[in-house]
Formats: sequence, structure tokens, C-alpha cells
Amino acid sequence: MLSAVLVGCGAMSKGWLDALTGHPLLRGRVAVIGLVDIDLSAAERRRADYALNDAGTGSDLDAMLTKTRPDLVFDIALPSTRRDLVLTALRHGCHVLTEKPMAASMDEARDILAAAKAAGRVHAVVQNRRFIPGVRRIRRLIDTGALGDLTALHADFFIGAHFGGFREQMQDVLLLDMAIHTLDAARFMANADPLAVYCVESNPAGSWYAHGAAADAIFEMSDGVRFTYRGSWVAEGAPTSWESAWRIVGTRGTLLWDGHERFDAHVVNGESGFQRPLAALEVLPPPDDAHIHGHASVIADFLDAIAAGRAPETGGDDNIKSLAMVFGAIESARLRARVPVDIQETR
Ligand SMILES: NC(=O)c1ccc[n+]([C@@H]2O[C@H](COP(=O)([O-])OP(=O)(O)OC[C@H]3O[C@@H](n4cnc5c(N)ncnc54)[C@H](O)[C@@H]3O)[C@@H](O)[C@H]2O)c1
Repeated sequence: MLSAVLVGCGAMSKGWLDALTGHPLLRGRVAVIGLVDIDLSAAERRRADYALNDAGTGSDLDAMLTKTRPDLVFDIALPSTRRDLVLTALRHGCHVLTEKPMAASMDEARDILAAAKAAGRVHAVVQNRRFIPGVRRIRRLIDTGALGDLTALHADFFIGAHFGGFREQMQDVLLLDMAIHTLDAARFMANADPLAVYCVESNPAGSWYAHGAAADAIFEMSDGVRFTYRGSWVAEGAPTSWESAWRIVGTRGTLLWDGHERFDAHVVNGESGFQRPLAALEVLPPPDDAHIHGHASVIADFLDAIAAGRAPETGGDDNIKSLAMVFGAIESARLRARVPVDIQETR
């Protein structure tokens, strides 16, 4: 069993602790030996909530790591603190799993990757929304080639989300805090790399966020694939799924996914007619059970990767490509121009 210190005991830490203490994929695998939050009462509350009676609590990660010397650090604090906390954890020789987004800028992300490499430790990101059945089913369907060659993915995300808290003060809130999931899911489904983006970002009239609650982006991906994203966190009235509503187009047909349970796929089934005749296509279940349980799956994959000495699926050096999509979109919106998505250069 590996030992872990968890830093950041706010709302999201509940999801992690539910998974760590209750999910079959993780049973008996991790002992939480420390809980850290700058608000000490938040750490104490989590210790009580989950009866983690042997875990220490504190308000300073560095001091907690000196005292407890864990194998792992789970970073669930805010994006603005991510670089400092992850670098502190790596300095103490810990493997690190952090919440999304991986960093608050591309420079910070590159600093984190360099530090993880120098420390020889595993660093991965909780991009949990690719670990759900629907996303895995779509990747499976695309991989079979049944839709033909993939040409385009379109995602619509519209939710009136009243969080309160840090998000309402953030810059680029939708792109950085939410679209990162959808952009990462598109990259995963398409198995393609981002090349360039044009994005318009806005804060619509009536928005309760300080900045960037809506965005429309067009991504050019490798293999000629196009990905369009339309999103808003201030769209009252007709919410989509948190996974977005998708239209995925290949050379032979189209798949619709409502982001919940409804899949609708059709392919051409005939050679004549103004619109060709269509046949329904079965969308098979996910290929395996280990990768469809959100946070539990990401944490399990991280632990498996450490044990096997392999890269985790959402390792930082892969996840930075999704972060580069976000920062490429932000830069495009600032410049009002199409920009390359470059992992080395994008700021
Ligand atoms: N993967 C997902 O689906 C998902 C969902 C929600 C939030 N998140 C992410 O989880 C992270 C936390 O979000 P949240 O909703 O829990 O926020 P939150 O504000 O509820 O909690 C953040 C906690 O971090 C603490 N904190 C801040 N700076 C700290 C520091 N330097 N050291 C120790 N503790 C510190 C705060 O006191 C607070 O208790 C964010 O990165 C967010 O984007 C991910």
C-alpha cells in the first residue's frame, strides 16, 4: 500500500476521498496519511468526514511532507497554486497526481514537466472526463473505422452554472476550468494532435463571471480532422450534458451523442440517391471496465503506472497537449487571429 498526502481540502477533495476510500478499483491501495489546506479547518473537516483518524492535518505542504514522507501527493488545490505545490511535492521525491488544469500557464506546465523529469517521478493530471463510458465507446467506434475516416468533431456545451467561489473571479474561466475536459476528450476520441486554433471568447451580457464565460473555437487537428467547440457557462434554459452534445463525422457516416446515454450512428448503405440511404450502426459498450469510473479510474491508472514503470494515460507530458489547446484558444481570442497550437512555444 502506498502512502499519500492530499493538499487542497475543498469541494473536489470529496470526490477524491470517496474514490480512495470506497471504490473497488482502489480498495486497500492508498493510505492517506496527511491532509493539508491553508484553511486548517477544511483539512480537519475532511479527516472527520472520512474517519481518517491516523492522518495528520496541516496548513503547509512542505512541513507536512517533511514530517510524513509519503510516496504520493494528490494536489486538489487551485490552479494558481499548482506549480508551487507540485514542485514542492517533487522536491520531496513524491509521485504527483494533480487536478486539472495541469497548470495556470504553459510556462508553468513546462516547469512542472522539467521538474518531474529531473526528479524521476511520475506526474499525471486528473482529466477524469475521458474516463467515462460514452467517451470510451466513441473512441472504440472511431478506432473500428466503421464511420470511415474521421473528418470532424463538433461539441456543444451550454450550462447556466452558478458555482460561486474562485471561478467567478477567474480569467478565461470557461476555457481554462471546463473546456479543458472537452478539448481533451476530443483529442482522445480523435486520437489526433492539435495543430492550430481560431477562437472568439466572450463574457455575455448578464454573465455572473468576471471573464470569459463563453467561447467558440475551431481547431485544426492532425490528419485533416476539424474540431469545433461552442461553449457557455451562462446559458440558462436548455442545459446540455456536462460532457457536451457531440456530432462526429466520418467519410461514411455520423455519430450523435447527447452526452448522456443516447447514441445515434448511421452510415451510408447504398450507392445512389440525392441523399444516400443510411443504415443504423451499433455503438458497442466500452472496451473494458477499468477506464470508465472517472476519478477512481484516473487514480488507479496512476498507481498502475507507478507499479509498472510506464507512463500514465494522463501523464503531464501528454496532458500538456490538451492544455496547449486551451492556451492556444486563449491566445487566439486575445489576438483575434488563428494561432498555431505549439506545445513548446504557446504561452
Ligand atoms: N476534475 C473535475 O471534474 C473537477 C471538478 C471540480 C473542480 N476541479 C478542480 O479541482 C481543483 C479544486 O477545485 P475545488 O472546486 O475543490 O475548489 P475549492 O475552492 O472548493 O477548494 C480548493 C481548496 O484549496 C485550498 N488551497 C488553496 N491554496 C492552497 C495552498 N497553497 N495550500 C493548500 N491548500 C490550498 C483552499 O483553501 C480550498 O479549501 C481546481 O483545480 C478545479 O479546477 C476538478
